[in-house]
Amino acid sequence: MKPLVRVTRSPEATRALAARLGPWLAPGDVVALNGELGSGKTEFVHGLAEGLKVPPHLVASPSFTLVHEYPGRVPLVHLDLYRLEDLPPELLPDLEEYLAGPQVVAAEWARRLAPLLPGDYLEVDLEILGENQRRLTFTGHGERSWELVRKLAEAG
Ligand SMILES: Nc1ncnc2c1ncn2[C@@H]1O[C@H](COP(=O)(O)OP(=O)(O)O)[C@@H](O)[C@H]1O
Ligand SMILES: [Mg+2]
Repeated sequence: MKPLVRVTRSPEATRALAARLGPWLAPGDVVALNGELGSGKTEFVHGLAEGLKVPPHLVASPSFTLVHEYPGRVPLVHLDLYRLEDLPPELLPDLEEYLAGPQVVAAEWARRLAPLLPGDYLEVDLEILGENQRRLTFTGHGERSWELVRKLAEAG
């Protein structure tokens, strides 16, 4: 299967695209987000939260917090490794626990997590095409994540 490419023209459209994944996400799914600052990774994770029925008032504004945990249809863990070029060794056990846990994990700057990523994860690459345009490329890394890509493709 080929990666799925979608272009969005507003932050709302990026959130809506992410929210579509919500009903299909299951405990243990990992969504690995890569893309430069301002490409929409945080918008995307907030869309995932919406799709997982996280109460909106709980969803934090973009911040430099490494971990946010949200209750939803399936609990969502939002990791943001912005500040962490190199993973501090003392964080590794906690990160590994999140990545192996019964939540959905969405990680910004996921490349920095590379050695810890599970055998199957959904990669989402975001590129800035213009002020309000972003290109999102969805790639599976395993059967489960390709299934998510296929469902998203079929949803239009
Ligand atoms: N199509 C789009 N998708 C996502 N964000 C967009 C889009 N167009 C404009 N934006 C803006 O780009 C910024 C993306 O910010 P954010 O999601 O915090 O990026 P990142 O987490 O990748 O640094 C926001 O200010 C948002 O309003
Ligand atoms: Mg961000």
